[in-house]
Amino acid sequence: MRQAMARAEVGDDVFGEDPTVRRLEQRAAELCGREAALLVPSGTMANLIGLALHCQRGDEVILERRTHSFSHEVGGGAALFGILFHPLESADGRLLPEQVEEAIRPVDVHQPRTRLVVVENSINLAGGLLYPFELLRRLRQLTRQRGLGLHLDGARIFNAAVASGVEPATWAAQVDTLSFCLSKGLGCPVGSLFVGDREQVDQARWLRKMLGGGMRQAGIIAAAGLYALEHNIARLAEDHARARELAAGLRQCLDERFRVQPVETNMVLIHTDSAATTETTLASWRRAGVLALAPSPTTIRLVTHLDIPAAGARQAVERISRATREQG
Ligand SMILES: Cc1ncc(COP(=O)(O)O)c(C=O)c1O
Repeated sequence: MRQAMARAEVGDDVFGEDPTVRRLEQRAAELCGREAALLVPSGTMANLIGLALHCQRGDEVILERRTHSFSHEVGGGAALFGILFHPLESADGRLLPEQVEEAIRPVDVHQPRTRLVVVENSINLAGGLLYPFELLRRLRQLTRQRGLGLHLDGARIFNAAVASGVEPATWAAQVDTLSFCLSKGLGCPVGSLFVGDREQVDQARWLRKMLGGGMRQAGIIAAAGLYALEHNIARLAEDHARARELAAGLRQCLDERFRVQPVETNMVLIHTDSAATTETTLASWRRAGVLALAPSPTTIRLVTHLDIPAAGARQAVERISRATREQG
């Protein structure tokens, strides 16, 4: 990947003159079976562009409370574009069409207009759970019937595609716009794509510039993206297998204070009995050389990725097991 970056042919992408960026955008659009795509610096910016494209000031977006756009994007839709968030709560982060239907505002001069629904696949804060395809199809029907936009935060859409066997283009056909990340599982240092119809992507280009995301010789980044799309998608299955192995090992060595959630993609989510357990566990694992995050006070998240070697899951379990014995 570094070699591809060093060899990249570049131009000024703000003027549309970077051939490597163009190739990446074309390849991303092709993979998603859509007309066009736009390279942006981050998943956060890609989602923000999605919000701004579908909503006017004062419009409302419906999403599950764990959705990244609501939980981890600094309220950018509200702060920068005057969009209202209407967060719903579901059992597992998956937004149900019935819930959405209930939350859609009536057409009433006193109320904001519901314009957009955002879903995430896979769902980061739910431990990499997949959004079931049938559920997305039903949501698509509903949003169409009610004249709403549907944006998919597909930061990890390739993990979802590999794990579900449903192609990225099949997911992408069910939504109006989507974003996906080249960083994260695909292993690039930076970059995300905003994907949709030609007209949407033309408009997204203006929004990207407004947000300060127009980049000059971005071919260096695009070359990494092209490399990742060619070499790093199929291998995500290895990350998923390692996550399953890790979860199985942890179930053996952790006590009743921990519940290891079934694994669907490249994350292992562990529910703990208290914030104190989470805190001491993370500290002891860190000392043992295993890095994890606490997405909430009572959950611990481990992620597998392409820098983790084949024996990595087994080694992590051994270290955690040893740390647990030493503590107990
Ligand atoms: C589901 C999801 N969407 C969007 C993002 C944002 O990506 P970035 O960190 O590139 O802004 C993330 C980052 O973790 C994410 O998990």
